[in-house]
Amino acid sequence: MQKIIPYLAILIVIIYAVYNAKFHNPKKVDTHTHTNYEEHIKTHKTTTHYEDELSHINTDEYTKEYIIRVIDHGSNILDFKGGEMEGGFAAHDDAEKIACYVMEFSGKKCTAPYPKNAAMFYTSICGGCHGDDGKGLGGTYPDLTKAKLLGIEKRESFLRSMSMHK
Ligand code: HEC
Repeated sequence: MQKIIPYLAILIVIIYAVYNAKFHNPKKVDTHTHTNYEEHIKTHKTTTHYEDELSHINTDEYTKEYIIRVIDHGSNILDFKGGEMEGGFAAHDDAEKIACYVMEFSGKKCTAPYPKNAAMFYTSICGGCHGDDGKGLGGTYPDLTKAKLLGIEKRESFLRSMSMHK
């Protein structure tokens, strides 16, 4: 009896796999209309996705999302004397208003008004590195007053390199 347990277990896994493949696949994609589905995804779907992102990369909303992402998760893609930036210097709940405040350094605006204390949050949490004026302490840290932030610039050239319509 002991001996058949592993075989039983394998059998159950196989039955489950067959069941999944046959009956439980609500998102089954039709691979017949495209002879090379992988290729299709690569050249069509993904590219469209990249182009979607490219089409709004220069919007204020995109900049805001980018800054919030950096505040939440940090950044280590740029090459600054100051090293990398860790995520979580500010609480996620404060990230949005800080992002709105940072955007004003380059003349951008959030659509909805945001709390005035954002300035105080920025100065006490971020200003030590990026400077109270956002200019990055003479090149030690990224200059947040740039019209296009470096991470967005990088992302844009990556997206362009992936795009079919360059
Ligand atoms: C300990 C220093 C330090 C603190 C504090 C800090 N940063 Fe940074 N920040 C950096 C460094 C270093 C980088 C570059 C990291 C990299 O290599 O990607 C950076 C990158 C950024 C970027 C990307 C810049 C670009 O051009 O793409 C943004 C936006 C940013 N920080 C915003 C903030 C905000 C907002 C705060 C406050 C919540 C903050 N940082 C706090 C050091 C800091």
